[in-house]
Amino acid sequence: MSSTGGARRLLIRDLAQLATPRGTEAPLRGHALGDVEVLEDAYVLCVDGDVEAIGRMQDLRSVEGEVEELDARGLCAVPGLVDCHTHACFAGDRVEEFALRAGGATYEELHAAGGGIMATVNATRAASDAELADAVRTHRTWMLRAGTTTFESKSGYGLDRDTELASLRAIAAAGGVPTWLGAHAVPPEFPDADAYVDFMVAEVLPDAAELAEAADVFLERGAFDVAQARRYLEACGAAGLALRLHGDQFTEQGAVALAIELGARSVDHLEATGDDGVRALAAGAVVAVLLPASALFLGRPMPPTRALVDSGAAVALATDFNPGSAFCESLPLVCSLAATQLKLSPSEALSACTVNAAHVLGRADRVGRLAPGYAADILLLDAPDWRYLAYHLGGAVVSRVVAGGRPAALP
Ligand code: NIG
Ligand code: FE
Repeated sequence: MSSTGGARRLLIRDLAQLATPRGTEAPLRGHALGDVEVLEDAYVLCVDGDVEAIGRMQDLRSVEGEVEELDARGLCAVPGLVDCHTHACFAGDRVEEFALRAGGATYEELHAAGGGIMATVNATRAASDAELADAVRTHRTWMLRAGTTTFESKSGYGLDRDTELASLRAIAAAGGVPTWLGAHAVPPEFPDADAYVDFMVAEVLPDAAELAEAADVFLERGAFDVAQARRYLEACGAAGLALRLHGDQFTEQGAVALAIELGARSVDHLEATGDDGVRALAAGAVVAVLLPASALFLGRPMPPTRALVDSGAAVALATDFNPGSAFCESLPLVCSLAATQLKLSPSEALSACTVNAAHVLGRADRVGRLAPGYAADILLLDAPDWRYLAYHLGGAVVSRVVAGGRPAALP
């Protein structure tokens, strides 16, 4: 406790560098996406869980009251990373399927044969509520170790009333931002996708809308078509949820146009998006969420990222962490893929998984930047230059994580 008014102060001092997206706008697009402010020999002062000040050490005036100091010599600070697209609520794994895919089976073939998403649904339905909550907490710890201080997670491995609602509760209990992915796949007890959407909207949405912040749908051949996705999302929007879509992952089925028509927050994946889709997203309000770890994990083409950014579209980066298509919780690795595969600069990648990802989650005024008034969520990199975040491919870049102004225990 401090002697002056009980404020809780943390001074992170002698940072080699501090890097943060500049300004207050969100989402950042075009040239502004790469506009990162870098301070050499810097400090961050946190008070009661918020950033109070940042600056150069030479400009640091003495701090009143009791202050915990964190010696950050040799480290760089960036905002705590924001993962705006994960599927962290699941039981079991898909390591057998992974091995089959290595032998040549495709993700779509496994899905069509009743494996894939449904395999995880069966394991997730069999888990107790406490086991589900434990699973999300474990995955949250993995993400925190990789530098993620804000995460979204979708439900979508229950596909029945009880397991979907338990999933949303487990995500919220672990501190995640819950998205209701009720329309992820059609479980075999329903005759068709229309009957399943009818059930979800009538029987699950009223409660899901109380627990989730957004709704999501897998718009794809073999999953839900445009008419079904529109019906599901319109009902979710009317119930007050923000709207998101999995679109153009394997084939273009009209997800981009539907996202724009409905004023969705984001359309995610876009590995199959062509020139018309890029043009439609340019300068629009729908954020293109790019998931290069998923494209890599499935051996799929990368999304047309340079074309999106250069045309003025708002882009964000996320892991897509899930047991089937992207068993990867590391946003630093995603930043490396963004630089090497998507041709984003390290600065553009940083903005895409901080400010812009925070915008997708409706939190850009609180997280994603290091500036006074933002949450003191800070990633300390074990690196002489902050761009090691993307440069050190698969490296142990995370030194410390500060969450809400407290150094986090990284078990
Ligand atoms: O974003 N494409 C649909 N959903 C997930 C994968 C889910 C799974 O394979 O379990 C995705 O890639
Ligand atoms: Fe996904």
